[in-house]
Order: sequence, then structure tokens, then C-alpha cells
Amino acid sequence: MTFIAALLSSTQFAMAGIRPGAVWPDNRGIHINAHGGGVLRCGDTFYWFGEHKADTTSSAMVGVTCYSSKDLEHWTYRGVALKVSYAKGSDIERGCILERPKVIYNKKTGKYVMWFHLELKGQGYAAARYGVAVADKPEGPYTFLRSGRVNPGIWPVNLANPDTTALTEAMNRKPELQWWTPEWMEYIKQGMLTWRDYDGGQMARDQTVYVDDDGKAYHIYSSEENLTLQIAELTDDYTAHTGRYVRVAPGGQNEAPAIFKHNGTYWMITSGCTGWAPNKARMFKASSIFGPWEQLPTPCVGPDADKTFGGQSTYVLQLGDNFVFMADIWRPEHPSDARYIWLPITFADGVPVVKWTDEWDITSLLKNR
Ligand code: GAL
Repeated sequence: MTFIAALLSSTQFAMAGIRPGAVWPDNRGIHINAHGGGVLRCGDTFYWFGEHKADTTSSAMVGVTCYSSKDLEHWTYRGVALKVSYAKGSDIERGCILERPKVIYNKKTGKYVMWFHLELKGQGYAAARYGVAVADKPEGPYTFLRSGRVNPGIWPVNLANPDTTALTEAMNRKPELQWWTPEWMEYIKQGMLTWRDYDGGQMARDQTVYVDDDGKAYHIYSSEENLTLQIAELTDDYTAHTGRYVRVAPGGQNEAPAIFKHNGTYWMITSGCTGWAPNKARMFKASSIFGPWEQLPTPCVGPDADKTFGGQSTYVLQLGDNFVFMADIWRPEHPSDARYIWLPITFADGVPVVKWTDEWDITSLLKNR
């Protein structure tokens, strides 16, 4: 009996409602294994996609898992939506790092499009690529299309004409120009790393994808050594970048972006950069997805709010006028035992609030969605 199965035998079927941080059994009684994920709604069915985590490694040994539910509380395992490859040298070779998968549906093509963060096998976090895959059905199987860096040879729209001579000089001043000095930060803000990666394309690590009301989709990712977020418009079929993109909070070190729109305002919840360890969530707002984005304090309230309740944001699920904040409590020593925080988002004077609660009823949000 595995550790999780043993734990479940004592807690099975005791669950009522959503219990953030608790073991969350699927229809087989096995703790849901879909980390760093997101949820896609198709009619009256929800599909939850996430990273399959093994017991002893955070590398991808299986792929992206899929679960479905009609009430958001009871989830049925639907199998591996995107399988890692056993072919040596494949971009998604078993043992690569494949994180934060999100799926969006393209009405024009009728395809389900999955985006994720990909690190090539054996290279740690150096590759910093996006990956994209497509399927005809929400649960897959997904066919891997390609991986890469974002928008090579193109400047962001909010960094149109940088002084590349000065930026090249600054880059060449290594090691004199030390990281984290005010001067270095100034060059980061001016686009030193955007310029460094200009030819090969922008780095893409922690990520999400978002479909706006007008059907346009965007890829939002940590770039520039995780110092700066970027938001890049996707093509009409959602499988590539158009070349239009912006930088957000240069030098702000934001990861784990989760975005939503309420009454015409875009909100984004992010984390700082402390690896698997939790830190204080940040929040941003904008009236246009391309910014300018304004930073606000953490939306979290309650015990351990300054550590995002021990979690790290991954997604915000919209249910009509209601929103659910989703985060991961990572367990790097036992990755498959990582837990989920799902909490309702409320609004105080129009500003999102994520308040801790031990247990809550998500089905009430479904009634008026
Ligand atoms: C986190 C990131 C995770 C994972 C981890 C690795 O900051 O959000 O997705 O990449 O670092 O240490």
C-alpha cells in the first residue's frame, strides 16, 4: 500500500466540500495528481489538467493528467492527456521538466490547445521553453507540436527602441556589473536581457494562457531569468505567437501567473521567486491586457496569508460572476503528495480578496454561473 493509499483508507469518503490543503481523492480513491494545473469548462463538464508528479522526483515521468467533473468536487480520472515520449532526444522525453500545463479551446478550429513550460531533459532549467500540443477532444490524446522560445527577433511593444549599444556594453561588463546592484536593476528594466535573448527568443518558464472575451488568446510567462513577466498574443488558432507582446513589472521577479477579468478590469495574481517554498502573493490590475499593469498588495487574508497559505498560485477559474483561486502546496521531498488550495475570490470595494477557509461548498457557485 502506498503512502497516499494508506492515508486515504482513513480519510476516504469523509470529505464534504472543498478542503484546501487536504488529500483530495479521485473516483478511484487516489489523491488527485494534477499539479500546477488549470481547469477548462466544456458545457456542463469541467476538465482539470495538471502535472503528474512522481513520488521521488519532480521531473516528468508520465506527462499531463486529466480529470473531469460536473460539480468541481468529485473528479474522475481520465488518464494521461499528453504523454511524455520514450524516444531519446525528443523535446518531451521522459525525465524532462514539464510544468504548469493549461488548455484552451479554439472555437475556429475546434481543437483543444495545451501550453506548458518545458525544460529539456538533463539541462536543469536552462532551456526555458514553451511547449504546445493539440487534441480533438478535451481529455486528449494531445499531439505535441513544438517547443521553443518566444518571438525571436521581435521587440516588445512597450520596449520599442532601446539603446542596444548601451545594453550590449552593460552585458559585456560581466563580472563587474554585479547582479542586484541598483545599476544592474536599471539595465534589467531597460531590457538588457530582452536584448540578450532577442535573436534566440524570449525565455518562457512559469506560465498560463488566457482567452479574452473577444476570442483573442494570450500566453503569460516568466521571462528574462524569471525577473520579468511577458504577455504575448497568440495567433487565431492559439498554437503560435503573433509577435505582439509586452513586458510586465520588469525586474519584479514574478512567477506563477494566474489571470482573470472582472467588470472590465484584468487581475493577475502571481508569486515571488523562491522555488518550491511559498512566499507572499502579489496582485496586479490593468484595464487593457497589454497594460500598464499596476501592482497591489497580496489579496490573501487569514492565517499564513503572507505565505499564500503555504501555496503558490496556478490558475483562477471563472464561474459566471464568481472566481476560484487555485494554488499548489508543493512537497519537493514527496512531489506526488503536493496539495491543492482552492478558495473563493470575493471583492471588497472592487478589489479581489482570497480569504482562507478550512472547508467550503463550491457547488453553490455552480448554481448561478
Ligand atoms: C517554482 C515554480 C514551479 C517550479 C519550481 C522549481 O518557482 O513556480 O513551477 O518550476 O519553482 O523549483
